[in-house]
Amino acid sequence: MLFSGVAPILLLAARSAAAAAINSAMGRPNDVDHDGALGYKHKYGKWSPKIVIVSMFSPEAEVWYDNMKNGSLGDILANNITVPGLSPLYPHVHCTENGEICQLTMGESEINAAASMMAFALSDLFDLTKSYFLLAGIAGINPKLGTLGSIALSRFTVQVALQYEIDAREMPDNFSTGYFSYGTYAPGEYPTSIYGTEVQELNEDLRNAAVTFAQRAKLADSTGAAEYRSKYSTEDGLYAAGAEAPSVIKCDSATSDVYYTGAMLSEAFENTTQLWTNQTSMTYCMTAQEDSSVLHAIMRAAVWGKVDYSRAILMRSGSDFDRPPPGITPFQHLRLIDQNGFEIAIQNLYIAGVEIVKGILDEWDSTYNKGIKPSNYVGDIFGTLGGEPDFGSGSVFGGAGFSRSSGTEVGLTKRRLAARNGRSAGGWK
Ligand SMILES: *[C@@H]1O[C@H](CO)[C@@H](O)[C@H](O)[C@H]1NC(C)=O
Ligand SMILES: *[C@@H]1O[C@H](CO)[C@@H](O)[C@H](O)[C@H]1NC(C)=O
Ligand SMILES: *[C@@H]1O[C@H](CO)[C@@H](O)[C@H](O)[C@H]1NC(C)=O
Ligand SMILES: *[C@@H]1O[C@H](CO)[C@@H](O)[C@H](O)[C@H]1NC(C)=O
Repeated sequence: MLFSGVAPILLLAARSAAAAAINSAMGRPNDVDHDGALGYKHKYGKWSPKIVIVSMFSPEAEVWYDNMKNGSLGDILANNITVPGLSPLYPHVHCTENGEICQLTMGESEINAAASMMAFALSDLFDLTKSYFLLAGIAGINPKLGTLGSIALSRFTVQVALQYEIDAREMPDNFSTGYFSYGTYAPGEYPTSIYGTEVQELNEDLRNAAVTFAQRAKLADSTGAAEYRSKYSTEDGLYAAGAEAPSVIKCDSATSDVYYTGAMLSEAFENTTQLWTNQTSMTYCMTAQEDSSVLHAIMRAAVWGKVDYSRAILMRSGSDFDRPPPGITPFQHLRLIDQNGFEIAIQNLYIAGVEIVKGILDEWDSTYNKGIKPSNYVGDIFGTLGGEPDFGSGSVFGGAGFSRSSGTEVGLTKRRLAARNGRSAGGWK
């Protein structure tokens, strides 16, 4: 997540103290039994939620807990299930009484997100083969495409900081940024040394369906947010979207552990996103610290039939702009001024997210049980799930995807690729 003006440590401490007091719940169809060491173990069957809400930290989770407590979908804290390998701060998956909706909190940034999602997706307590994953977190927003409180649903997420970096004060005079892709000699060149986590592409048909559901929501807004966003109304109209009221938008997500701010880095990562996804125009609108990690972990589990990668939805809400308006420095913008976006961004995660949840549940029998077949390529740059990526330099699995039985040796393929690119294999770790 990316946010400003709140001290997360206090919230984390409160949450984990509450979590220590967890105990058993009765009467659900897929019963579980208390077990000293793990808290719970499944007894008669596995939990098989239709939807899993994925939060990164407490405020994103609390908004679901608070609103669902007395709501028609049921209390999401009706069942607390301890899952080995989750974040020590958030060791439980929470589910409604009937087990249809579950929620987990992964912890912030790339390492927490990947480790938590991997543990969950491979857990024997759950059957997630038909589950939809709704990633629902707050983020930095690009004022060229959206504003505080905007809800973005993405087709791509890009791990933008997976690059060489020379401090801008020491970079060559003709570089536009200190970041440039692995294996290249300048910004703007396509990477030739590939790690595999650069880009994740999602089911665009499901994304579009989620947009239709989310558009049923009346998004929260505030006068404080309206005041700050009005500063983005400039002569040249470059940030016109930033000055408008929040809405539901389709655009892509940048993942970075580094919480960057300012026009220079934001533009550099706009360029990276466009270049690595082979798009003809700039589509980057949200910046957060987890999306590539979560989706890569879901994809790894999908290889082994544990989940369906084409059921993942990436939703972010704008809590703060990734760059300041005219007349305000990046430092002032990041640390000294309250942009007033945090509260509406958190509210809108629920307000828009619950429409997606309801939409999927309402149309479960007719549509979502069997799933929405993607008409675009889905997966990573290696073609791990099969098919030819519509970005990158071609599947390393020859379009067939990773084979569980033959266990294709990717290390060899990597060396072949490196040789083809006329580079030493040294770039491959
Ligand atoms: C589940 O945990 C939450 C705290 O995270 C608690 O408020 C709730 O009562 C617990 N539910 C049950 C059934 O114990
Ligand atoms: C930058 O300048 C160097 C040295 O003159 C040149 O070799 C290189 O191609 C230039 N790079 C770009 C991106 O223009
Ligand atoms: C982004 O790409 C454009 C077009 O190539 C270039 O003019 C601009 O300098 C780049 N911006 C940064 C910050 O690298
Ligand atoms: C994506 O762009 C790169 C660099 O321009 C190019 O080498 C590659 O073939 C393109 N991939 C696809 C699938 O269009």
